[in-house]
Amino acid sequence: MSFRDEFVWGAATASYQIEGAAFEDGKGANIWDVFTHTPGKIADNSTGDVACDHYHRFADDIQIMARLGIKAYRFSLSWSRLLPEGTGRINQKGIDFYNSLIDELLAYGIEPYITLYHWDLPANLQKQGGWQNEKSPEWFEEYATLVARCFGDRVRYFTTFNEPQVFMGCGYLVGEHAPGLSLRDEELMLACLNVLKAHGRAAKVLHNMVVEARVGLTVATTMVIPDTKEDVESARELFFETGKGNYVFMQSFWMDPIVLGRFPQPLLDCYGDLLASVTPGDMALISKSIDFIGLNNYTSHQVGTDANGRPEILTRHRGFPKTAMNWDITPEGIYWGTKFYHERYHMPIYITENGMANGDFVSQDGKVHDPQRIDFLHRYLLNLKRAAEEGVDLRGYFQWSLLDNFEWACGYDKRFGIVYVDYETLERTIKDSGYWYRDVVFQNGENL
Ligand code: NOJ
Repeated sequence: MSFRDEFVWGAATASYQIEGAAFEDGKGANIWDVFTHTPGKIADNSTGDVACDHYHRFADDIQIMARLGIKAYRFSLSWSRLLPEGTGRINQKGIDFYNSLIDELLAYGIEPYITLYHWDLPANLQKQGGWQNEKSPEWFEEYATLVARCFGDRVRYFTTFNEPQVFMGCGYLVGEHAPGLSLRDEELMLACLNVLKAHGRAAKVLHNMVVEARVGLTVATTMVIPDTKEDVESARELFFETGKGNYVFMQSFWMDPIVLGRFPQPLLDCYGDLLASVTPGDMALISKSIDFIGLNNYTSHQVGTDANGRPEILTRHRGFPKTAMNWDITPEGIYWGTKFYHERYHMPIYITENGMANGDFVSQDGKVHDPQRIDFLHRYLLNLKRAAEEGVDLRGYFQWSLLDNFEWACGYDKRFGIVYVDYETLERTIKDSGYWYRDVVFQNGENL
């Protein structure tokens, strides 16, 4: 078997990265509005105020997707567009916007995949401590209830959180993302546990309120590639490793409770008291809460085994291929990582993001030639196909990203799109990789 017949070929974006209209039609401020307007936080001092102006141009963007044969669109909702203060007052114009977007997608036969939280917490909730506030799971439940009520008649696929590792790790520990905090270890753990509790509550609401809802959670992955056949166990061990001071960016801290219903033993050994704040009732909601796992993958570690039999990350040679993000290009990682996920969790998997940043520009012929991206995607997809052939339960693949967009702390310098955006005119140009992806979609990957 190669890719299954009903394999979902999609493209992905996120609200703050593309929508713009940051202060329009009653939208409340979120933590990224605040962060980008704080001098020195973003590389090119840019903001998401206008971004790709998708808020006004969504119909054109959907037409582009239709031209490329894209079957599913993974996008996130701006919480503060729907609930300007995060809870309480509802902004009807926000609901109207997402209704129009969803209806337009459906008119073109494109399946909407909604992400509830792609990092843009309402600023008013951050003032109350954000994910550190023990009420945050209730806030998220209220938001999820509104989403289910407004959109659940037409949308079946939901992801609660996108990359909790990154919005908690970079936002609450490293401080380079909004809200720019550097918490102590114990505070960070408690905030992360609130995110897990929030996930459990939202998943329950979505399952209860939406007929045939399919709910997932997406994690960030740095995959692992065993250096030799003898290093497979080391790679697996490193991938799911966690322990004191080493959990926020890791896989098993987030996914074990969600799928296996328990925290990894090394964490119970050192954070037992804190983890006990997750009551059996919370755990009952958190565990068995998802129908699929979302994996975002860009890069991987090369893993060997040291003299003591422990996994070790190997240094790659000088000049190793890298993307414009300076991330190593490691196609085999997507094979090994999905395989390890399959073996540990036995769940359906979607690749909810994969792609590369590249120094794209419009050529003299008016086109955008990006052979590096085509080569990158080709290699990664071949490895994904290999995983599918070996029985990994792969359901879909979403290209990151549909459009060049606001790449968080890097601003607009890093272009990830299969569609080029001229940020002066906001004109879109489908890149060569976009047309290439169209052929892959039409042939369900048979041409790879
Ligand atoms: C993962 C994030 O979900 C997305 O927002 C970001 O743009 C890409 N990685 C690329 O860094």
